Amino acid sequence: MFTHRHLLGIEGLNQTDITTLLDLADQYAAQNRGPHKHGQALAGLTQVNMFFENSTRTQASFEIAGMRLGADVMNMAMQASSIKKGETLIDTAMTLNAMHPDLLVVRHPHSGAVNLLASKVNCAVLNAGDGRHEHPTQALLDALTIRRRKGRLHRLTVAICGDIAHSRVARSNIMLLGRMENRVRLIAPPTLIPSGMDQLGVEITDDMREGLKGVDVVMMLRLQKERMDGGFIPSSREYYHRFGLDAEKLKHANEDAIVMHPGPMNRGVEIDGTLADDINVSVIQEQVEMGVAVRMAAMDLLARNLGIVKPTISDA
Ligand code: NCD
Repeated sequence: MFTHRHLLGIEGLNQTDITTLLDLADQYAAQNRGPHKHGQALAGLTQVNMFFENSTRTQASFEIAGMRLGADVMNMAMQASSIKKGETLIDTAMTLNAMHPDLLVVRHPHSGAVNLLASKVNCAVLNAGDGRHEHPTQALLDALTIRRRKGRLHRLTVAICGDIAHSRVARSNIMLLGRMENRVRLIAPPTLIPSGMDQLGVEITDDMREGLKGVDVVMMLRLQKERMDGGFIPSSREYYHRFGLDAEKLKHANEDAIVMHPGPMNRGVEIDGTLADDINVSVIQEQVEMGVAVRMAAMDLLARNLGIVKPTISDA
């Protein structure tokens, strides 16, 4: 049973929660490939997407997921919102709350902002990424992609490579993969590994060839320059040379290793463009596909917990 009110992070989920969510997402993935994509799980419910940070795939994915489930979906144009006029996040949240949304999907540049917001509203809140903190639906869609490709989600060795320090994707993935009993190896320059990471039960190295040995999954991360307030790397060229994934470095991983990237990609910075497009190893498009299915599953499960009794004829 999935008993949560919100989906704020992987931190609060146990193995059963994760498996329940992925099992349902698998069903939605099959439905999304067929001709009848629409369901009624969110019929009559209002979903509001509030993205305080730019997004392409995550926002589109949540929007499509909501529409496939029959919700009324509204995207708030945050660039043009009252936040720009000085309104606080809490005031915006309270204003929205008064309109009785059922599901609120929030992305925010500050770690912890989504949790704060969730404590102020009556609806279910889904974290679509907050600062460097968590991005739970990304970790779940990565997990679903891995499970489908590898046939299991335990006892795998997964390398997470690149800008770990600024990455909420890495944080959520480290927690999820650890919880499902996988081995996680972080490969990055020491300047891009946050302190305290060694306490999370992960292996750490700054040598790509060494780090990729025996790896089943290679997860690449974007160099998040917008979150860097100083020089973390000597240059993009130097970075690509040492940490960029190309066919030669990939040879050190297991022969059937898959390559992942949450997007958006910087081709020629963290990953070679040809490798990213190689459908024999790269599952990047499948990650996007699974994103819609995972978000459908997450919103469906949370909506069941809203305790909403749909009006019947006799109530009308
Ligand atoms: C990621 C994010 O926004 O955290 N992108 C995504 O959601 N697919 C990673 C990134 O921006 O590099």
